[in-house]
Amino acid sequence: MLVVSKIEDVRLAISDAKRRNLRIGFVPTMGALHRGHLELVRTAKVECDFVVVSIFVNPTQFGPSEDFHRYPRPIEQDLEKCREQKVDLVFNPTVEEMYPDETLTSVSVSKITEKLCGAFRPGHFTGVTTVVSKLFNIVQPDAAYFGQKDAQQALVIRRMNHDLNFPIKLRVCPTVREDSGLALSSRNQYLSAAERIQAECLYQSLKKAKELIIGGENHSSVIISAIREIIESSGINKIDYISIIDTKTFDEPKIIKDDALVALAVRVGETRLIDNILLDSKGNELIITQADQF
Ligand code: PAF
Repeated sequence: MLVVSKIEDVRLAISDAKRRNLRIGFVPTMGALHRGHLELVRTAKVECDFVVVSIFVNPTQFGPSEDFHRYPRPIEQDLEKCREQKVDLVFNPTVEEMYPDETLTSVSVSKITEKLCGAFRPGHFTGVTTVVSKLFNIVQPDAAYFGQKDAQQALVIRRMNHDLNFPIKLRVCPTVREDSGLALSSRNQYLSAAERIQAECLYQSLKKAKELIIGGENHSSVIISAIREIIESSGINKIDYISIIDTKTFDEPKIIKDDALVALAVRVGETRLIDNILLDSKGNELIITQADQF
């Protein structure tokens, strides 16, 4: 496994792989790799011949009072996990390598970044789409892999990929959960034992939403109230949002008639957690796809 920190070295390795006609799969990460990331890598390994993982805690997607400095950076363990998965290339740049000069250019997606997390984390998605465009230009992958856990991120990147004509196949892989239902996240490390138990209600509340839709309930307000009740009764009282949105328009339908993303963000102690479930109007779980869009 090649581990490089310079853009130039990535370009050399990619030119060589392209000369050998290898299909390049790319898994962008901020490190602190868990089974969710490893699932993306495993899928990329099945579908591609040369798999690149980037590990870069991107400062531009964190707000001034967010956890950029405390974000976990267990690089040796991450590299070991990548080695075990037989990743071909790890790109682990410094902030100076990615942003050597004052940045005058950014990539931002409008409208669909204004709701859900975008409403609570100003500038976050512009940080994400800018760094992902830079990484796409550096790695030039045939396919890139994202987790459904960050559903809004996946939808925003899907839109950027479409609008800017990146010739990249986007693949969104299912959320990986602990047995308790808690969605895996690098930020789960911040949770105390008691908070972890509290956080289990998030998936329980999404399962309740699914049950209600299967039972024929289609009023968003009823479903949102049921989710809120479960979350509040666990003792979590800082809810950023509980929303049901149409994944194409990001409109919030009063009556659910089509596929709907049920998404939430809460604060458990100091830790902000997000989770979601994508359902069709009958309550079947779906995965975001690149096709079937716009
Ligand atoms: O999902 C993440 O880990 C990050 O937002 C990403 C896509 C690697 C961009 O920094």
